This record gives sequence, C-alpha cells and structure tokens, in this order.
Amino acid sequence: MEVKTSLLDNMIGVGDMVLLEPLSEDSFIANLRNRFDHNEIYTYIGSVVISMNPYRSLPIFTPEKVEEYRNRNFYELSPHIYALADEAYRSLRDQDKDQCILITGESGAGKTEASKLVMSYVAAVCGKGQEVNKVKEQLLQSNPVLEAFGNAKTVRNDNSSRFGKYMDIEFDFKGDPLGGVISNYLLEKSRVVKQPRGERNFHIFYQLLSGASDDTLKKLKLDRDFSKYNYLSLDSAAVNGLDDAANFRTVRNAMQIVGFMEDEVQSVLELVAAVLKLGNIEFKPESRCNGNDESRIKDKNDLKEMCELLGTEQTVLERAFSYRTVEAKQEKVCTTLNVAQAYYARDALAKNLYSRLFSWLVTRINESIKAAPKSRHKVMGVLDIYGFEIFEENSFEQFIINYCNEKLQQIFIELTLREEQEEYVREGIEWTNIEYFNNAIICDLIENHQNGILAMLDEECLRPGTVTDETFLDKLNTICAEHLHFESRLSKSSKFLTDHSLPHNCFRIQHYAGKVLYRAEGFVDKNNDLLYRDLSQAMYKANHSLMKQLFPEGNPAKVNLKRPPTAGFQFRHSVGTLMRNLQTKNPNYIRCIKPNDKKASHIFTDSLVCHQVRYLGLMENVRVRRAGYAFRQAYEPCLERYKMLCKRTWPHWRGPAREGVEVLMGDLTVPAEEFSYGRSKVFIRNPRTLFFLEERRRQCLQDLATLIQKIYRGWKCRSHFLLLKKSQIVVAAWYRRYAQHNKYKRIKSATIVVQSYTRGWQARKLLRELKYQKRCEEAVTTISAYWHGTQVRREYRKFFRANAGKKIYNFTIQRIMQKYFLGLKSTMPSMSPIDKSWPVKPYLFLDGVHSDLRRIFHLWRCKKYRSEFTEEKKAVFEEKLEASEIFKDKKALYASSVSQPFMGDYLEISKNPKYQKLNSAMDEKVLLADVVNKINRANGKGTARIFLLTKNSVVLADQKTGQVKASVPLPDLTSVSVSTQSDGFFALKLKEGSASAIKGDFLLSSEHLIEIITKLHRTGATAADSEQLNIDISDEFLVQFKHDKVCVKFIQGGPKNGNSVSCKRKNNRLLEVSVPSTV
Ligand SMILES: Nc1ncnc2c1ncn2[C@@H]1O[C@H](COP(=O)(O)OP(=O)(O)O)[C@@H](O)[C@H]1O
Ligand SMILES: [Mg+2]
Repeated sequence: MEVKTSLLDNMIGVGDMVLLEPLSEDSFIANLRNRFDHNEIYTYIGSVVISMNPYRSLPIFTPEKVEEYRNRNFYELSPHIYALADEAYRSLRDQDKDQCILITGESGAGKTEASKLVMSYVAAVCGKGQEVNKVKEQLLQSNPVLEAFGNAKTVRNDNSSRFGKYMDIEFDFKGDPLGGVISNYLLEKSRVVKQPRGERNFHIFYQLLSGASDDTLKKLKLDRDFSKYNYLSLDSAAVNGLDDAANFRTVRNAMQIVGFMEDEVQSVLELVAAVLKLGNIEFKPESRCNGNDESRIKDKNDLKEMCELLGTEQTVLERAFSYRTVEAKQEKVCTTLNVAQAYYARDALAKNLYSRLFSWLVTRINESIKAAPKSRHKVMGVLDIYGFEIFEENSFEQFIINYCNEKLQQIFIELTLREEQEEYVREGIEWTNIEYFNNAIICDLIENHQNGILAMLDEECLRPGTVTDETFLDKLNTICAEHLHFESRLSKSSKFLTDHSLPHNCFRIQHYAGKVLYRAEGFVDKNNDLLYRDLSQAMYKANHSLMKQLFPEGNPAKVNLKRPPTAGFQFRHSVGTLMRNLQTKNPNYIRCIKPNDKKASHIFTDSLVCHQVRYLGLMENVRVRRAGYAFRQAYEPCLERYKMLCKRTWPHWRGPAREGVEVLMGDLTVPAEEFSYGRSKVFIRNPRTLFFLEERRRQCLQDLATLIQKIYRGWKCRSHFLLLKKSQIVVAAWYRRYAQHNKYKRIKSATIVVQSYTRGWQARKLLRELKYQKRCEEAVTTISAYWHGTQVRREYRKFFRANAGKKIYNFTIQRIMQKYFLGLKSTMPSMSPIDKSWPVKPYLFLDGVHSDLRRIFHLWRCKKYRSEFTEEKKAVFEEKLEASEIFKDKKALYASSVSQPFMGDYLEISKNPKYQKLNSAMDEKVLLADVVNKINRANGKGTARIFLLTKNSVVLADQKTGQVKASVPLPDLTSVSVSTQSDGFFALKLKEGSASAIKGDFLLSSEHLIEIITKLHRTGATAADSEQLNIDISDEFLVQFKHDKVCVKFIQGGPKNGNSVSCKRKNNRLLEVSVPSTV
C-alpha cells in the first residue's frame, strides 16, 4: 500500500509560508532561519518555491531523490525544487500546458544553480533513447559554454551570470525533449574593459590563458601571463575553488557536443584573443598645427598582432583610431580624435566585439539545439535572469536590471492573482477582492512611451546639440517630479531638497522592492552604445569568417544614416517580448535568497535575508496567496488526514469524500466562515484553523498511538509467552531426544563391539575354511591346467610352428612342382619323336624327374606316333626295326640305309612286261625284286642278276632274259654272312647236303643289302618249319664254292682306291674286298 504523506508531516517550522501564524516579517524570517538551520533550504509560498543558497553541497540532489519526487503531488512531500520541476513537467506532458519557470533573486542567490537543477531533473525524468539523450546532452552542455563567456567572478558570486537568459525547451506530445531556443538579455559588456575592484573579467579570458596548449597560444599570439593584458584586472585573477584550465577543457568539450566545428571554435578563440590585444593598444597625443591634440598609437606591435588575428589591414584600423568620419546629409566630415576619444573608441570596439561574439554564440547554439519544425511543440521556458540589484553606486545597468525585475514582479502578481481567481471560479467559491500593491505604476514610470524615463533618455540621446547626463537628469527632474515613486533633489517637489542621502547628480526610484539611488553619470553614453562607423566598417572589411556577421552595419553598401536603436530601447523591446511570451505560459516561481554575503555555509544574516525578502516581495506574495483562503486541499487527502477526529469517519468513511469532510467539519464545530467547500477541494481561510485541525490530529494520533501501543504490547507479550512456552516444549523435547539418543548410542556401540568380536571370530573361521578351499581349488586348477595343457599341446602339436617347416616345405615343393609342370606344359617340345629338344631343368633336385619325364614323354610321343601308323607302314617299320636289331652297330652300311625306304619291288616285276614270264614262274608273291651282282668266284667280278624273294624261296634270274638261274628254298639257307663295313657284299650259305648246295654258296653284292638281309631274315623266321636264319657279321668269312672254301676278307681301302668297292681274287683261298674307308 502506498503510504500517503503530506507536506505537513515532520515539518520544521512551516513548509508553506502561507500557514505562518501570525504572519509578519519577523516570523517569516524566523521560519526561514529555522528551516535553514535544519538544512531545509526550500520553503513554499503556495506553489512558489523559496530557495536558500546553502553554499555547500547537500545530499538532496541524488538520483534517489529524483525518484522520490517523480510523479508525486506537489504537497505530498517536503518542499523541494524537484517537486516544482515535476509539477511543471507533468502538467506540460499530461495537460498540454506550456510552462515557464521563473527564477529570480539577487546575484549569488543560486538562480543559475536552480535552473540547472530544474533542467537536470527534467532530463532525468523525461523519455530516453539515443536521439533524446543527444538532445538532452546538447541542451545541458549549452550551459558551460554560455557560462564561460557570460559569467564572471563578482564580489557577490564567483560564478555570476552577467547576462539574462531565457531558455525554451521544446517537447513532443510524449514529453520527450526535441530541442530548445535560448534568448539572452543585456550582457554586462562594460566588464570587458573594466572590472570593479575584487572582480574579474569574463571567465573565458582566464580559461584560455591557463588552459590552452602552448601551441594554441602561439597561434593566437598570446602569453600565459595575465599581467600582460590591460583588460584583465590583476587583483583577483585566481579564484579559490575555480580551476580555469580544467574548465577550459570542459568548455571545449561542451562546444564539441553542442556541435561547434573545429574552425568555428578557432574563430571564436581568435576574437577573444583579439579583444585582449585590443586592450593593450595605447595612445599618445600628437600636437597638430591647429592646436588640437591628435591621438597616435604608442606601440604598434599589439595592433599588428590583433590585425593579423582578425585579418584586418593595420592602416585602416590605425586610421579609425585617429579620425572619425561623420556623415550628415550626403556630406562627409572628417574630424580627428584626441587621446581620450581614441581610448573611448578602443573600449567601445572591445565591448562591441565581445558582446556581439556572445550573441553570435547564442545564435550558433540555437542553430544546433533547435527542434525540427513540427506541428506543435510543448514548451517549458526557464528564465534565469539577474535579480534586483541595489549597489552603493547604481548605474544604467542596474536601472535596466531593476526595470526587468519590476516587470517580472508585475507579471507575477498578475499571474498569481489570475491563477487564484481561476481556481476560485473553478471550485465555485465566491471571489472576495484582495488588497495588494500593484507595481504597474513603477513600470509605467520607467517604460511609458511619452514620459517614461527610458523614453526621455532616448529623447535626450537623439536630440541634436550638446547632450550630457546632466541635461538628462534635468529633464527627469522636470517631467517626473510629480511621480510618486520618483525622487530627486532638484525636482520641483520640495520634500527632497534637504535630503542629503540624495546627491545632486542622482535620482531615486521607489521600486516595489525598495528604494534605489541611481547615478545619472554614463546613462546617455551607455544608452547610445556608440561605435564609430569607421571602426565598424574596418571590422566589416576584416578577412575573418565571423566579422561580417558581427558587424553587418559596417557594410558600405548598406550605409544607414539612421542611428541604431539605443540600448534602453532594445532592452525595453526584448523585455516586452519576453513578458508577452511568459503570459502565454503557466508560471512556476523559484525565488532565490542568499543567506549571507560571505559565500559561506551555515551563516544566516537576518538583515540581508530581510532585505531580500522585502525586495523580492515575498510578504506581498504570501498576502496575495492568503487574501482568500490560506489553505486548500482536495477532499480525499483531507478526509484521509483528519478522519480520526470524528467517530463517524473513523476508521472508514463509506460515501463521497466531500460528505465525509462535511460531517467531519460539522462534528468538529469549526466556524462556518473559516472554510468553504469547493467542487473538489475544501478551502480553509485561516492557518489557525488548519493548525487547530493538525493539533487535534496530533493528539488523536497520540491516543491512537497509545491504543496501538497497548494492543501491540499485549500482542507482543502474549506472543512472547506463547513463544517461550513453545520453546520450552521444544527444548525439553530436544533434551529428551538428546539423552535417549546418547543412551541409544552407548548401547549401540557396545552391541557393535560384541557383534564385532563374534563376527571377527566367525569371519576368521570362515576365512580359514575359505583359504583351505581356495588352496584346494587352486591345486585342482593347477593340475587341470597342466593336464589340459598337455592335452591341448598334444592336440595342437600339429599346428605348432615346429611342423610348419615341413608343411611350408611341402607346400613350396608342391607349388614349385605345380609351377614346374605348368611351365613344362607351356614349353613342351614338338610331338616329333626325333625332336631332341627339352626344356632345361629348373631345379637341381628335379634332375631325375626331369630326365624321367623327358624319357616318358619321348616314349609317349613315340607311342602316339606309332599309333598313327597303317598296317603297311607298320610292317615297313617292323622291317626297319628288325634291320636295326640285326645291323645296328654291327655293320657300317646300316647307317646309310636307315633313311632309305624298303621298297621291296624295285623292278616293279608285276607291272613290267619284261619280267612277266619270270613273275608268272613264281609260285608265291614276290616279296623283293632287285638287281644284284653275283660275284664270280674266279676273278671276283660281278654279274648282274635279278634277285627275287618269296615266302618260300630266294630266286636268282638273269637280268636280261629273266631266266631263273637258281632257286633256293628258304629252309636250305643256313646263314648269311656280311662284313662289318659299308660294302654291299653278302654270302648266302646253304645247308650242306641240300640240293641247292651243289653249286656252292652265293656271294652277292647289292646296294640294298640291309633290306635284302632283313627281309630274308624275316621270311626265314616266319617259315614255320625253318630254323632261324643265322646272320653272321664279320670281316672274314668262308664261302663254299663248289668244292673249295674261299675266305672272303674285307679290308679298308685307302683313299687311292676311290669310292667304289673292289673285289679281287688273291689266291684260291682268298678273296679280298677293299672297302673305301668310311672315315
Ligand atoms: N543548491 C545549491 N547547492 C549548493 N550550492 C549552491 C546551490 N545553489 C547555489 N550554490 C552556490 O552558490 C553559488 C552561486 O550560485 P549561482 O546560481 O551562480 O547564483 P546566481 O546565478 O543567482 O548568481 C554557486 O556557485 C554555488 O557555489
Ligand atoms: Mg547566475
């Protein structure tokens, strides 16, 4: 539940001066002091905030405080500037009312700080986002820039604003800031050239000299030493707690954030430097022949440097300091300037340069922070303007400032009254006229168009002829003498004639806030604010980016003979605009008060505060506020606050709040004239009534507090007792539990010991058994392992590696054999039996096999070869075979016969008709027919005979006749003799005693000896009844010729015998056959 609080809670003194009772200046100040002593620097007068400058930082501006005041009603919390800012911001955002925050007060009273607090509060509570934050940052950062150029140390304030400032912050419909516009009022430019004792020039000069880098200073032709510059008074150049160098960096940074370009910053600094240089230019008189003194520049170095900074021509400026051109009605008159005039011109130029630079800065900042032109903006204006000033010597500036404050007071009165009146109408309460002092009459004295002081001053300034401050004062004395608020020694009215507090050269005005004595000196001059045209033209000509903007009147093309508007006129005009602007807005006031003159904390000087309270018109303010009803409060919070005062409304009122309040008031018997019922608020006329209510409430709260205390104490004791009781049970329970637990633990541990012994004993026994068992098992395992091992080894021995060699060997052999056989297959020699080729043996160990195979193969192919034979061929080969059996290696002739086929019938006996008869004489088929030589036994010469062989017999016939000469049956043949040589001789030996043997054996020679003998052998063998025919092979054999036996001897004939075989009869018993040597 949200706690409803009120301003009235824990008040120190009264938080709202309207409630002050009794109301007097003393009680007012006492209240302020009381609160100030308790660090309560803010006090309300209705919705106006009085702010006392604490001169020290208080912990009341933290982000937590911002949160505390955010979205709370104005009177809900103790007075604070945040409450005002919040109220203003919320009614701007939610009710679409443009707001203005008017901050007034004496110099050093905390106006600028207050304006910054308001801005920072608004920045903290309004929308967020990248764009919004940038805008906020720019708005906030415009302050340091303007403060550097527009603030200075004065005797009253180390950071005194020397210009008036009004800033419009623009918001969109959501309450997010969009941008802003700053207006500046009357910069105190006289400070540029001269500062009162104990005061400084504007901050920027000191900041530049202390904070800029050596490089920058060199560029600007400046020296760090303040004492080098005439315009910088020396007596208070350094200010306590003010770090000019650091501030310079802050300012540069702020300028960058606000959006100044680097070259713009440079230009600005150049102008600042130029002002300092300008102050150093000095003049000396030079006598002229007409007796007048003419001024000359003493040392041109500063002038030169300044001209370089501004880009002006030195001669032009030099001339402008010595001569003055006056134009009147197309006539140009040139007059010389004396030294005083030259100084005047120099200072005027410096002041103008600086103040125009300042205005340019404001314009430039405005350019950066201006909001995009949208349909409608909500606006919150913050006015931080110089307060009422009463010095010992007051001049034109004070006059102007105080005029401005008069106007503000007027608008304050007007708006406060209007607001009051509007509220009464809104609430339906009868309006009673309020008595108050209206300062319109003073405003009129100053600003009246015909006979106002400003109008008269302007008149004097524009009047031809000699015009001095005295003539101006005379004029005032004549015209304003009757005015109630104007006082002058020389005025017609005699009552001041003897007033010595009023010097002759002064006049006094009774401002609403007090009387102020103005010294007339300087009024005319300052109002004129004259800058010789020659100077402005020289400035216009300067080759510098800013000068043309700053001195537009120097443009020769736009020479305006009309005098420029006077300072007074301009100010009146801008104040008029400001007032009109403020009138359209809902005002919120912050009135700042300075507690002492020493800038010290904790000191409250009554007289000083009293003075301010007077001139700020705060008493007036309270009176106006209290004129009708001092206090008002909406029905709900009122009922909520006071409902305990009446039994009927306590503790709950069920019905409309207004009726509740009526019942409450009725019950309390508050006199009817003391309050009024509005539509939503109850109005209380007198603070006394409110305090009566508050007092009753306090008492009631005390009773209620006692009641609450009583009930609370009872409840507390009861619950304490119950708690004790409960605790005792718990403690007892815990103790019992503890004791039992301990006992249990002892028993348990004993049991465990016993148990452990038994278990140990059992376990050991078991262990022993188990160990034995384990050993048995291990033995069994070992035995079986060995057994299995043996078995397995036995079983697997064949797979052992030891056998692998044999296996591999077998396998290798197998493979080799396989390869060998396959190789053999592919390199097999031809099937011809006479082919001798055979692959070379691949391995030595296959030697036997290889040769065996060769043999087997040969046999096989021979067999194959043979199997292809026909019967005839077979017979031929059988014969050949037989021939081989008989002759091979026995007779040399054999070799030549191998290749000759055995044709048998060489004579083609059956076909040749020549032998037809012979053939027919044969009883058997002729197996062989050939021509042979029959060797004659006598001489050894041969006679050709036909040799025939049949199955049964051998027949010899005459070659020519074919007559059979001899026929020998085969059984009569006993043997055949042949030599071992290559001759064709053979002897057919006949059985002794046979018929054929009569003529003896036959010695024959034939070319086909081998065939003949073979066939003969065969035939003889086949004859069933015959014996095997002997074949006798030797180089000597006996042949039986009739009765004698003749030896036939074969000799190897020499080469001389030729190739032919010759046979010769050596003697009766020897026949020699010479055979050619075979070798
Ligand atoms: N709320 C505050 N808290 C702490 N110090 C303050 C406060 N307001 C003002 N001051 C002190 O007073 C000095 C003058 O305040 P300033 O706002 O410059 O006065 P003004 O603008 O009215 O001339 C500040 O420099 C600061 O030291
Ligand atoms: Mg200020």
